[in-house]
Amino acid sequence: MTSISVQVMKPVLPALDVVTPYLAEVYESGIFSNHGPKVRALEERYATWFNVSPEQVVAISNGTVAIAAAALWEDNPTYLIPEWTFPATAMGPLEVGATIEFRDVHPTEWTLTVTDDDRRNANSVVPVVVAPFGHPIDLAEWSDFPRGIVDAAACAGNRPDLSGMGPGWSATISLHATKVLGCGEGGLVIFGDVARAKIAREWINFGFSGTRVTNRVGTNGKMSEFAASFALAALDGAETELAEWKSVRERATAINTELGFNGGPMPADSRIPYWLVAVDTADEAARVAESLDAAGIQTRKWWPAALTSTKPFHDMTTSGNAVATHLADTVLGLPMFRELSDAQFGHIRTTLADLRK
Ligand SMILES: Cc1ncc(COP(=O)(O)O)c(C=O)c1O
Repeated sequence: MTSISVQVMKPVLPALDVVTPYLAEVYESGIFSNHGPKVRALEERYATWFNVSPEQVVAISNGTVAIAAAALWEDNPTYLIPEWTFPATAMGPLEVGATIEFRDVHPTEWTLTVTDDDRRNANSVVPVVVAPFGHPIDLAEWSDFPRGIVDAAACAGNRPDLSGMGPGWSATISLHATKVLGCGEGGLVIFGDVARAKIAREWINFGFSGTRVTNRVGTNGKMSEFAASFALAALDGAETELAEWKSVRERATAINTELGFNGGPMPADSRIPYWLVAVDTADEAARVAESLDAAGIQTRKWWPAALTSTKPFHDMTTSGNAVATHLADTVLGLPMFRELSDAQFGHIRTTLADLRK
């Protein structure tokens, strides 16, 4: 067996000396959770980041609970989930007892495709549009739908301007350690409508609304002051972190371009924690993965199956999953992290180039 010389990812959190002053303040305040000052500060900082008001931003325990908090429409709409995504996209709405259906994805854009019926039923469905691997979503293309959720899990680094988001729409972000500006475990929901943000704040706090008498069935989805401290420290270092992501992204894109590999629809200037190679067939994907593996280079199929071909979603309604299955079989994740060295890039490039001979 070959030893791994380049792992597929390496999470890097903010430096301890940047986090420690925040943690000291948390200890001094004696407030460790329950929407304390660090969480409030984080919501304010991210409001500026996404160009919205702080009341629109809800900091939350993670990106999955963020999707659940965005799926609290009480008229029981059907949430339309892309077949090709991380399972959390579907699990979020299910967590709040919602009805979901699956739709296949676009072969080159990799995003949710809806049917003519969905457009006709726009008032009773809520598309959950995943920004795949941080690929930006153009909200204008979704203007037929008064409500929707953008699962923008990997988009924090792209800093989308959310000021124009409609009142029925929301965007969810993951601040997991593997994501850009990650804090360990954390998430955000940015709501188009402050009233929806208020409902989400109640829901993540056991349905409490100002008193200890619960108002609705909720959960505990609060972000702790510790997670908020790491997230604030990450924002303090955003300029450096984003410059590092820019550098590794450009190098990966240059190698893809030089060797004629399709890197997917994400723009070259995305600040995303992925290097992808989309090949034509499952056999070719296996060949690429085997050659890299033999050279000690780890790969991963980030989304290795269409969701309705997995156990929890097997019997659920879908428009089909042919495109998703093809993408699941043929899109390979290569190593991508901020500390990828010249030598590691060189080794990956040489190994990929050998495959082109
Ligand atoms: C598309 C997508 N949605 C949701 C999530 C869930 O985020 P979290 O891990 O913060 O719960 C992820 C995590 O990788 C993801 O990739």
